[in-house]
Amino acid sequence: MKPQVLDSVAALREAVAGWRAEGSSVALVPTMGALHAGHMALVHAARAEAGRTVVSLFVNPTQFAPSEDFSSYPRSAADDLAQLAEAGVEAVFMPRVDTVYPPGFATTVRVGGVTAGLESAARPHFFAGVATVVTKLLLQCLPDAAYFGEKDYQQLATVRRLVADLDIPCRIEAVPTVRAADGLALSSRNAYLSTDERRVAPALFRVLSEMAAALARGGAATDEVVRGVAALEAAGFGHIDYLAVCDAGTLTPVTRVEGPARVLAAAWLGTTRLIDNVPVDPAG
Ligand code: PAF
Repeated sequence: MKPQVLDSVAALREAVAGWRAEGSSVALVPTMGALHAGHMALVHAARAEAGRTVVSLFVNPTQFAPSEDFSSYPRSAADDLAQLAEAGVEAVFMPRVDTVYPPGFATTVRVGGVTAGLESAARPHFFAGVATVVTKLLLQCLPDAAYFGEKDYQQLATVRRLVADLDIPCRIEAVPTVRAADGLALSSRNAYLSTDERRVAPALFRVLSEMAAALARGGAATDEVVRGVAALEAAGFGHIDYLAVCDAGTLTPVTRVEGPARVLAAAWLGTTRLIDNVPVDPAG
């Protein structure tokens, strides 16, 4: 069955109210479209747990800097809708930019703490844009749960923080990163990689995994970061925006792993910026 395509907040609220009246629970999967298996894992997790699932497709301009790829960001609405129909999603929310940001819009949600460093160093605008649009989507839909991928780990931490801080009555569910057979984390931006770059790209996950194993055995973060940077450069990566070992909850850097931690990186291959992260479990 084809999902209902909704383009206004009123239509979204009416659909959700109807499902609630039937006693159904509601899940929201926020996306920017260009759906791949990573997004579909979020959709399947939502479908498995909720009575009704809404997927939002909205390329959010406020999370792109003017120099970034907002206008060229991959858009494939027809293909996205076909995948969502196949997955049995009940509704797709596809608002226009001026529905989300009408003339006079003047509110920004800024989250502190977990947004410091990492992605923010290279993309200082990013989390305010994400936090603002996610807050709006959650308030527009008021789902029981919303689904986010661990691939964007700092984004996930930011969303958890804002939902707790703003008392938004919604559970945030994290879904593990989906990877290609060679380990590359699925991302819409992988489409930008040349054949040669695509061959190099899995080194990011390999290096992060090697670092995580060494850290779990008691290695010092500074030593592992130096080794990791050298390994990424040797593999063919260009500029490394960051390679860091952080507490899994607060995302503050740690020198040695004593509790749940995460190794996170952003690195360039040609003109494509890849991000990835892996858990470090000192007990594991
Ligand atoms: O992860 C994404 O695709 C986006 O940042 C999100 C959460 C849909 C907000 O625009």
